Amino acid sequence: GSGWLDSCPFCTCSSLFHAAFFLPTVCQGTSNKLAQLGNMEYHFISLQRIYNNCEVVLGNLEITYVTRNHDLSFLKTIQEVAGYVLIALNNVDSIPLDNLQIIRGNVLYENFYALAIFSNYHTNINKTSGLRNLPMKRLSEILNGGVKISNNPQLCNMDTVLWDDIIDLNKKPVIQLEIQNNLADCSKCHANCTEDHCWGAGIENCQTLTKVICAQQCSGRCRGRVPSDCCHNQCAAGCTGPRESDCLACRKFRDEAMCKDTCPPLVLYNPTTYQMDVNPDGKYSFGATCVKECPHNYVVTDHGSCVRSCNIDTYEVEENGVRKCKKCDGPCSKVCNGIGIGELKGILSINATNIDSFKNCTKINGDVSILPVAFLGDAFTNTQPLDPKKLDIFKTVKEISGFLLIQDWPANATDLSAFENLEIIRGRTKQHGQYSLAIVNLKIHSLGLRSLKEISDGDVAIMKNKNLCYAETMNWNKLFVTETQKTKIISNRNQDECSKLILFFFPSWNAIVWCRKRDCD
Ligand SMILES: *[C@@H]1O[C@H](CO)[C@@H](O)[C@H](O)[C@H]1NC(C)=O
Ligand SMILES: *[C@@H]1O[C@H](CO)[C@@H](O)[C@H](O)[C@H]1NC(C)=O
Ligand SMILES: *[C@@H]1O[C@H](CO)[C@@H](O)[C@H](O)[C@H]1NC(C)=O
Ligand SMILES: *[C@@H]1O[C@H](CO)[C@@H](O)[C@H](O)[C@H]1NC(C)=O
Ligand SMILES: *[C@@H]1O[C@H](CO)[C@@H](O)[C@H](O)[C@H]1NC(C)=O
Repeated sequence: GSGWLDSCPFCTCSSLFHAAFFLPTVCQGTSNKLAQLGNMEYHFISLQRIYNNCEVVLGNLEITYVTRNHDLSFLKTIQEVAGYVLIALNNVDSIPLDNLQIIRGNVLYENFYALAIFSNYHTNINKTSGLRNLPMKRLSEILNGGVKISNNPQLCNMDTVLWDDIIDLNKKPVIQLEIQNNLADCSKCHANCTEDHCWGAGIENCQTLTKVICAQQCSGRCRGRVPSDCCHNQCAAGCTGPRESDCLACRKFRDEAMCKDTCPPLVLYNPTTYQMDVNPDGKYSFGATCVKECPHNYVVTDHGSCVRSCNIDTYEVEENGVRKCKKCDGPCSKVCNGIGIGELKGILSINATNIDSFKNCTKINGDVSILPVAFLGDAFTNTQPLDPKKLDIFKTVKEISGFLLIQDWPANATDLSAFENLEIIRGRTKQHGQYSLAIVNLKIHSLGLRSLKEISDGDVAIMKNKNLCYAETMNWNKLFVTETQKTKIISNRNQDECSKLILFFFPSWNAIVWCRKRDCD
């Protein structure tokens, strides 16, 4: 009863078994809508490359711009489409989707349609040439979404299909059928077709009804009119018997021969140890299939599904030979261009226009320069003054590959707390070829670079910060990596004056500052 068996007449037993019970041949599909890729010929070759041998389309199936005399027989392998099916702007005679059984409609065309068939005629000549046959004789399930058929002047037999047997009316799908039902030379349904429903000429194109004919007792599909013909409720499309292993397609997941609501979980609760134990029979979900291992080039999520890329708040790692998405500890690592790199090449300062490009960055590839122009704004380059609050964007930064230069800073800020998580300044590029950290002319009381643990190369300049105490007493050598690195710490707050000060926490500023004993109170 497996759909995958049917389309594999030349397979050897083992590959057949493999194809049937472990993994269908999948392809990604496309999301081009009506866009044409290159010229007609190139567009067709891409189509062929994408869908050749494909049994399950994980995304959408889009067949567009196919002209006459093109052989579309490679589409015959397709049995399942997870997204939508779009058939538009073709004037080829026939599109042989002979084995397409189910459209899941996980993605809909124009938000409504799981199946859209329109404008299939030769636009340059007359409407006398165009798509004629679309024998989707196995199509019996559209799980979600509607159907649009319009402007196909030559297309036969769309009116002899009973769409209500295919779509899920409970979901109130949008159905737009503008069907040419007066075409003189279209074939009638074979006399033996049930209730005169078919996809084309001949008994082989009769529509197999699996819903409207069912006995009331059936919860979904059936294979005949009597109650014993009901399919299992995990079945989609239809069935060959009553069990969940007799389905033509599965509503949710296929686990080997069985249709199931979910794949076997990867961990199970152990009531004696009060722990989650690894389930030896656990499986990952891959599209609508349960698999023992994710296919090559897929990663595993927390929920046990195979995906092509990890979510925004997770990152990819390899664990015991399995590539997994793991939750980031804090913000996920994100590398951003700094000043001097990429789109910030030739820019002198962080400013109101570019600061948002540093959102969520943990590593800056390039430099960070904050110059007075940032806070002043600049009419010539149409740059607004930077809102000081925006500096907190840098709180996620742990690493700067170039230098950090700060020549202006909000007057009431007592330290550089926006960089409190900065751990490493690599100094691969240096200001004036010399400095990897330069802090000049600020009103800060302390540096506040409490996570800084390495300055890999380049010198440190801390100058003319009239409120800043004790910068020179820091153990800079501990941060330095090379012998030649030096500091230039001059013209900050006078050391004598500093020694008369005490550290004091100002709750209203939420900051620790130096103050004279009597001022502190
Ligand atoms: C277009 O249609 C007209 C009449 O309907 C016909 O005479 C003509 O041959 C057609 N042209 C082509 C290229 O099919
Ligand atoms: C059509 O139905 C008749 C009567 O049930 C049967 O004798 C005949 O063989 C059928 N034709 C085909 C092509 O199945
Ligand atoms: C501000 O940044 C934008 C974008 O990076 C840039 O185009 C502009 O020249 C900058 N302005 C100044 C004054 O640096
Ligand atoms: C930054 O991270 C937050 C939380 O993870 C996320 O919601 C937001 O979209 C991210 N912003 C950018 C620009 O990456
Ligand atoms: C600095 O001043 C601005 C307004 O001028 C205010 O919004 C901000 O909270 C102040 N910052 C501190 C740390 O007091």
